[in-house]
Amino acid sequence: EIIGNPYDMIGGAPTVARLVDVFYDYVQQDPHLSPIFPDDLTETKAKQYKFLTQFLGGPTLYNDEYGHPMLRARHMPFPITPKRAEAWLSCMNAAMDTIGLEGHVRHAIFERLTLTAHHMVNRWENEN
Ligand code: HEM
Repeated sequence: EIIGNPYDMIGGAPTVARLVDVFYDYVQQDPHLSPIFPDDLTETKAKQYKFLTQFLGGPTLYNDEYGHPMLRARHMPFPITPKRAEAWLSCMNAAMDTIGLEGHVRHAIFERLTLTAHHMVNRWENEN
């Protein structure tokens, strides 16, 4: 039995593109997240598409264009509280539901994203 990487298992590029699109629709509607994101999410979506592609085991699109992600450092300008990390994960969970991503692979991906989201927390005071 050949076990693929998560990227292949979920259906590759079209699935990642749908997940990212739907995810940022939820982000835009989230009262905790929308204030810290730009109004126009075109560029944000494009970068996240490239990042998630490689995060899931697909082609290294993000690194090829921008170099090492240094995600925690790149998020420092934005106040990421525990509440915002939970909001981010809740948008991702809803997006996975919406596109019909199910089963073991979904849970494995979500678990890794949970670790990454918690790692992004950089503010603990004045939570909102
Ligand atoms: C960029 C918020 C977690 C990946 C950003 C930006 C914000 C943000 C405000 C800048 C958007 C822009 O100016 O275009 C958050 C919050 C998180 C979170 C509140 C909650 C924990 C994550 C996680 C990942 C991630 C878990 C990866 C799985 C990225 C990437 C970018 C980004 C790849 C683009 C970086 C670049 O400029 O090249 N995030 N983020 N973020 N985020 Fe997050």
